[in-house]
This record gives sequence, C-alpha cells and structure tokens, in this order.
Amino acid sequence: MQHRIFDYESSEQLLHDRQIAGLQLPFARETGILKTPLRLGQRQIENRLAAQPVEGFDALPDGSPSEKNMARYRAYAAGMSGMIWLESVSVCASGRSNPSQLWLRRENVDRFRCLADEIRTAANSWGRPYTVVQLTHSGRYSGQHSAAGPESAFHNPLIPKEHERILTDGELSSLEDDYLLAAQLAQEAGFDAVDVRACHGYLINELLAAREREGRYGGGFENRARFLLDVVEKIRAHTEIEVAVRLNVYDALAQHHLWNWGLFAAGDPPVRYGGRNLSDRASAYRSRPDAAADPADQTGCSASGCCGFGVYMAAGVWRECGRGRHRTGVVRFCGVRAPAGLLS
Ligand SMILES: Cc1cc2nc3c(=O)[nH]c(=O)nc-3n(C[C@H](O)[C@H](O)[C@H](O)COP(=O)(O)O)c2cc1C
Repeated sequence: MQHRIFDYESSEQLLHDRQIAGLQLPFARETGILKTPLRLGQRQIENRLAAQPVEGFDALPDGSPSEKNMARYRAYAAGMSGMIWLESVSVCASGRSNPSQLWLRRENVDRFRCLADEIRTAANSWGRPYTVVQLTHSGRYSGQHSAAGPESAFHNPLIPKEHERILTDGELSSLEDDYLLAAQLAQEAGFDAVDVRACHGYLINELLAAREREGRYGGGFENRARFLLDVVEKIRAHTEIEVAVRLNVYDALAQHHLWNWGLFAAGDPPVRYGGRNLSDRASAYRSRPDAAADPADQTGCSASGCCGFGVYMAAGVWRECGRGRHRTGVVRFCGVRAPAGLLS
C-alpha cells in the first residue's frame, strides 16, 4: 500500500486499509471516553481532545499574534479542544527561529491577552479550554534570518550552522530569567500553563545533550539538566501558572543519537534533583520504552515523538517536586476541529 495522507472520512475506509496493509492497529468504536472531563490541579479539562502545538510562522514582526494566529486559535476553540497547546513562542528576540515566530514580551502582552480572551469567547458555547503557552529558544535554529546568526549550546559537527555562536554560562543564566518573565507575562495574559519546550533539537534539548560543553551547563547530567530544572523552579517560585515540559521520549532511550540525554550511559551514577531520583524515571523508560504510549504511565511530562513519526502519546502536565503529580490522558490531534461527531 502506498503512503497516504490520513484523510479518512469514515472508520470503514480506515479499517479497510488497515486490513490491506496487514497492520496491528488498535481500533475502538466506543469513543465516549473522549467526552469525559479530567481534573488537572485546580482546573477541570472538559474533554480529552488536545490541539497540539503547531507553528504557523505567521506572527507580526514584533512577535505579536497576527489576525491569522487569532483565527487559528479561535477555530481550535470553536472545534471543542479541551486543551489548546499553543505553538512555540520565543522568550527573546535572538531566540526566534524565524522573523514571523511569536515572541512574548512586556510590550505586546496586551495582544497575547487578546488572544487568550478570543480563545475563551470562541469556546463560550461549550466550555473553557485549558490553554498552554509553549516557551522556547530555538538554539542552533535561532537567528538564521538575521545577521546575528544562531545561538547554540555547543558545536555539533553533525549539524554545523554557519555563524553559530555558543551561548556563555552568563548568557544562559540571564536567559533563565527571560523564561521566567515570559511565564509571568503568560499568566498576566490569562493563560493556564506554560510549557518549557525541551524537545525537537531546540536550545534546551541541546543543553540536555551537551556532554562536550564545559562549565555549569555541560558535561554530567546534573549540569546538562540545570537550565531546564532552574527554569521550572523559577517559574514555580515566582508565578502561580502551571508548568509543563515537552520532551522527546526517544531521547530518553538507551541508544545514543543526536539528542540523547545520556541518562543510561553505562556506569552513570544515580542522579538526584530536589528529592527526586531522576534515574528512577529514566529506568522506567528504559525498561518499557513504550511506556509513554500508555496514558496511565505518564510521568508528568508531555512526551513527543519527532515530527511526523506519528507516535501516540498522551500529554501530561509536569507538577512534581513536592507539589504532587497530575496526569492527563488526552488525545492530541493537529487538525483544527475535532473529527465530526466525536464530541456531539
Ligand atoms: C508544521 C508543524 C509545526 C509544528 N510546530 C510545533 C511547535 O511549535 N511546538 C511543538 O512542540 N511541536 C510542533 N510540531 C510537532 C507537533 O506538535 C506534533 O508533535 C507532530 O506533528 C507529530 O504529531 P503526530 O504524531 O500526531 O503526527 C509541529 C509540527 C508541524 C508539522
């Protein structure tokens, strides 16, 4: 069977192709679970559909949401997504991967507030979506459209970038505060959560793999995880907003590849942070590399496959470090609307 876009109009068509391709693809006719609400911290998510973060690169030059952004998120809300995970939003000018990427800052927080309001208004007829703003610095993919060039965590000979500049420890330390400010602004604008994006090869993903880097943010796992954990702790300490982290679950697997966190290198000592044994969580993934496919086994992060890999993962919001743990079991999808009839 040839590759085909997932544009099935009926389950019968899908089941037909499943049979032709001889796939072991689980299928359930009963989708009632998707209509059930879910408790998350102080909030109730009204159903199990989540709109995934999908960058449109259609922000205004100053980073504010454009009318196109607004229209897209209104459509997600009108389409009854219980959770709307906004696309990546840069925390600083130099971290943008594209001059049309969203960028949240003091000067345009009103425009983001307007976006949050519009999402709620568009969902008025059925409820209130849970909204997550994804915060990012694009690392080696930043600055490609400007004279400044990309800012990376370390030189990677496999993916060299012209004019790449390695961020110093001092710059990373002040970047942590940019994340905090963006989280404060997201709260001020009326969003429910921020996601500290640590996946897809962007800066924090690079840092997690920065074995060759020297100084406070490179080398051993504790140093490599420092930036991510510092940012999460700062946001928790200074805001009331919920914090999520999106990680690539493949990066936690034993095989070494480009962004592997290296949790499982032979002889690695147990890694602890703030009372948590990070190695335990790592071992859970190692013993069951498919663990994240089971919504009941989420360990509190939004797990992601690489773009296009189509791995089903439930999303979860990361609330550990002594503040309890909450899991969500949601279905995520990239389309603007929930498939017809799913929630009616
Ligand atoms: C055009 C495009 C833009 C995307 N932008 C983001 C993004 O801003 N943040 C993010 O975490 N993932 C982003 N993704 C990844 C998606 O959220 C999703 O994980 C990916 O498409 C795989 O989904 P699937 O497993 O349902 O195919 C993007 C994907 C595409 C195709």
